[in-house]
Amino acid sequence: MKPIHMVDVVGQYQKIKTEIDETALRVLGSGQYILGKEVSEFEKEIAQYLQVNHAVGCASGTDALMVAMMALGIRPGDEVVTTPFTFAATTETIMLLGATPIYVDIDPKTFNIDPSKLEAAITKKTKAIIPVHLYGQSADMDPIVSLGQQYHLPVIEDMCQAIGTDYKGKKVGGIGTIGCLSFFPSKNLGAFGDAGMAVTNDPALAEKLRMIVVHGSHERYKHEIIGVNSRLDALQAALLRVKLRHLEEWTQARRTAAAVYNRLFAGADVEVPLEASYGRHVFHQYTIRIKNRNEVADALSAKKIPYGIYYPISLHLQEAYRKAGKPKGSFPVTEKATEEVLSLPMHTELEEEQQQVIVQSIREALKK
Ligand SMILES: Cc1ncc(COP(=O)(O)O)c(C=O)c1O
Repeated sequence: MKPIHMVDVVGQYQKIKTEIDETALRVLGSGQYILGKEVSEFEKEIAQYLQVNHAVGCASGTDALMVAMMALGIRPGDEVVTTPFTFAATTETIMLLGATPIYVDIDPKTFNIDPSKLEAAITKKTKAIIPVHLYGQSADMDPIVSLGQQYHLPVIEDMCQAIGTDYKGKKVGGIGTIGCLSFFPSKNLGAFGDAGMAVTNDPALAEKLRMIVVHGSHERYKHEIIGVNSRLDALQAALLRVKLRHLEEWTQARRTAAAVYNRLFAGADVEVPLEASYGRHVFHQYTIRIKNRNEVADALSAKKIPYGIYYPISLHLQEAYRKAGKPKGSFPVTEKATEEVLSLPMHTELEEEQQQVIVQSIREALKK
């Protein structure tokens, strides 16, 4: 049996090595290293894949969130309603802009923001709502979008883990006002470095995003608004274009691996991921819930089986975000999830034999 990896970016590269190497050499010889045709073509292809009108490349998923909020005019003193159970980037960018994250607890089954608790978090200072499509599954968008409409609030979809995810037959990204993508190497569509993108159906916002990522400028040395340097590299765009052609097949491979895990866990005292009836999960992560998570994790470590805990600390309890923090106990569903979640190896190269070993090891640890 091959060694088990949490993600296998090298294994995936080996399978498409010829296409990737040829593309990389072509870009290296072109002299166009930033923006240019590779980036604009990649933007068009992503827009088409996600069924949105506009896509603007940028340097990372974190930057996509930041430029999205800049384009929407989020400023110091504003509040942004979001989830405490996710990667730090959402909270970090809200706070970098001087705004305050207002957290809403999650749904215990999908791990996504609980729409039934959202309205209570909206105040006069609220300027946006940011649901995160965690682990590759959409948040329940209909009630979120209708609250956005009711209170005239834009909805930013953090879809960094959810390229290709469906919600009620529609791809996420174009459901809210702006969708933010990450192409971090371990993502379902991963670059060979950092890369990101913001997508929208609003032409005026697209124009603004396009300016912000190049120092607030349309024309060289003429700066109309304050921007940043968050340009997408031509090399990353070109390589991502190659990978995009494989994305659907890779999503199917992830879904098959998830189904295998589900079957192998049958009857075990483990809560396998729920695929909500409203959409298609793309299994960026395969995350189970178990009561004695830490002992099981230690047992896996002892056998050198990799795993992830996404996320061990809720954002409202993080030292760095103390200014926006809330006392322990404020978001009980999230806090319980931080103690029980365990993400298992999940990637396009995973083999059933490896999954059997992983599941067997968890079953044995549960018996102890
Ligand atoms: C939910 C979520 N949001 C934002 C980000 C930030 O993306 P990046 O690492 O490309 O900056 C990530 C990924 O790392 C993520 O998983």
